[in-house]
Amino acid sequence: MVPFMPLPIVTGAAQAPKIKKLVAVAAGKGGVGKSTVCAGLARAGAVRGLKVGVLDADVYGPSVPILFPADVPPKLEQGKISPAVSAGIKVLSVTHFGFAETATAFRAPVVNMFLQQCIHQVDWGELDVLFVDFPPGVGDVHLCLLQEWAFSGVVLVTLPNRISLSDVEKACLSFLDMGVPVCCVLENMAFTSHEGEGNASLFGSVAIKPLLELSKAPLNKKLPFDPKFTALIDQGDNPYMQSRLTPMAAHLQTVEKELFDLLDAAPVPDVYPMLLEWKL
Ligand SMILES: Nc1ncnc2c1ncn2[C@@H]1O[C@H](COP(=O)(O)OP(=O)(O)O)[C@@H](O)[C@H]1O
Ligand SMILES: [Mg+2]
Repeated sequence: MVPFMPLPIVTGAAQAPKIKKLVAVAAGKGGVGKSTVCAGLARAGAVRGLKVGVLDADVYGPSVPILFPADVPPKLEQGKISPAVSAGIKVLSVTHFGFAETATAFRAPVVNMFLQQCIHQVDWGELDVLFVDFPPGVGDVHLCLLQEWAFSGVVLVTLPNRISLSDVEKACLSFLDMGVPVCCVLENMAFTSHEGEGNASLFGSVAIKPLLELSKAPLNKKLPFDPKFTALIDQGDNPYMQSRLTPMAAHLQTVEKELFDLLDAAPVPDVYPMLLEWKL
């Protein structure tokens, strides 16, 4: 367990020099598969030999300790936090800070303090990519992360239904307002993967086009409903072993590779400006 330490207030976005790509996985909505996709992308990167980290920024519903059981626990040494390590992936979650068994109601200052520590006090080492699993909504966590860190881009996860898309569109606008490009829109559970049942849609069909136009995302993929994949991810197992490959695993491996090619070609993001411009 890592104890909380009081920190000075830090303002302005920080470049994370040893982290080559900083990728948000977000939706603005809960239950659409952000953590599942985030874990799937992270594991796909690690299988390719990349140095990967995952920050669980969902302080209200942390999933990382389940999806990435720690082989090495986090450590605090000389004021620096080393993340936990799970199958070679560096991971950190609010549960590593001693809140695991308590139903703690986090007030904004505590949330801010946690994030400040994750951003400024964690020694992530050299990483090819750090995936950040965002919480639902566009509240304190969302704003704090976007103000403090210069993200390379965001992967938006949605279900192909109106009730999800309306929240994802709001989150999308918020990322764009903060200067973070949308790299990819993933329609999760967009079809069933059962053989013999065709590609039946679970949620009917709803137009994703407005979100694609709003986000200008260069990548858009449909992901299958795949309980076998999620069962493995849910147990903290690697779904990419040859004998286990399911449709979702195959899709996410493609997405991860395409996402990387896209980010490799993209310019390194500017530091987010310290002063907001007034729009009158
Ligand atoms: N493609 C999928 N196929 C089947 N179940 C899925 C899929 N994606 C997510 N799930 C399940 O949906 C639930 C919500 O996913 P989760 O990743 O926790 O969402 P979020 O992080 O957005 O709240 C979990 O039970 C997860 O196992
Ligand atoms: Mg989650």
